[in-house]
Amino acid sequence: MPPPARGGGGNDALPSRGHPDRFPRQRVLRFGDGSSAGVRAIGPIGRRRLIIGAGLALGGGAGLAAYGRWIEPERVGLTRLRILLRDWPADQPPLRIGLLSDLHCDGDRAVHRARRAVELLMAARPDVVFLTGDYVTSHGEQWAPKCADVLAPVRSAPLGAYAVRGNHDWWTGSAGIVERELGRIGVPTLSNSSARLAMPSDVRVIGVESLTTGKEDITAAVAHLPPNGVRFLLVHEPDFADRVTERVSLQLSGHSHGGQIRVPGLPAYTPYAARRYVMGYYDSGPHPIFVTRGVGMIGVPLRINCPPEAALLTVIHGDARSSRGTEPTGRT
Ligand SMILES: [Fe+2]
Repeated sequence: MPPPARGGGGNDALPSRGHPDRFPRQRVLRFGDGSSAGVRAIGPIGRRRLIIGAGLALGGGAGLAAYGRWIEPERVGLTRLRILLRDWPADQPPLRIGLLSDLHCDGDRAVHRARRAVELLMAARPDVVFLTGDYVTSHGEQWAPKCADVLAPVRSAPLGAYAVRGNHDWWTGSAGIVERELGRIGVPTLSNSSARLAMPSDVRVIGVESLTTGKEDITAAVAHLPPNGVRFLLVHEPDFADRVTERVSLQLSGHSHGGQIRVPGLPAYTPYAARRYVMGYYDSGPHPIFVTRGVGMIGVPLRINCPPEAALLTVIHGDARSSRGTEPTGRT
């Protein structure tokens, strides 16, 4: 069964704006004296209404753009979701997972935004924190250390923090710098590898490398794991889920930015490998999946109807299809 269509929006892989399906054929309204057949005359009053309407439309568009540029990107919220997993041991207390993604630290404003997301998340006291990539957009040598400094508090989670890298970390040639800086603050980067959480039950965190490398390999990552136990999969690009044949308890991803710009009535675009699973929780894929809208921006620097988020996922034993979310809380 296909997952629910929740839309999506674009950033780093926008289709051509010249696509014939994007704009319907438009009727041409001509100004004149009305002498031409089929052309209706527009008098002074009609012309004034047209000008006023155009002005309102332009003003509204400018206002929406200003909102999307300066206000909504700073409305960082904490999304809470309770996820029921059959794999989670019934005798284990709930696990509170903090999730951050797509910080895209590319300037002081982005770093400040990332800091607020970290503060919001850590105030909710997660047991463990997962980071799913795209820490920088460019100039990794300059911004990765600052991003890591901001992320340092996540290491104080009782069960630690784990990271994978995203496409932009690689595209900017910053993958090594990102791993070094995350390591400096005590956060290991998982690249087709896994780690066991320090708890009585067998709970593994599996990190698969970004699909942009062409080296993603979950088979290698789980090769030496026991057949049973809880398996959390971290991978930047959410659509990787459809390629997974190994058993996964819950996948956590980012990359989509939730579409970033979601104007009702208009299609939103998402980058490659984030077109099937765009944002939120999916229980109809090959395994349960949660995709975060992330924190930062890329491409057109706007967020409209798609605010940045940190996520707190509380995992308990039960039927995954009964998982329930709440409205984002703690928006700043
Ligand atoms: Fe990405």
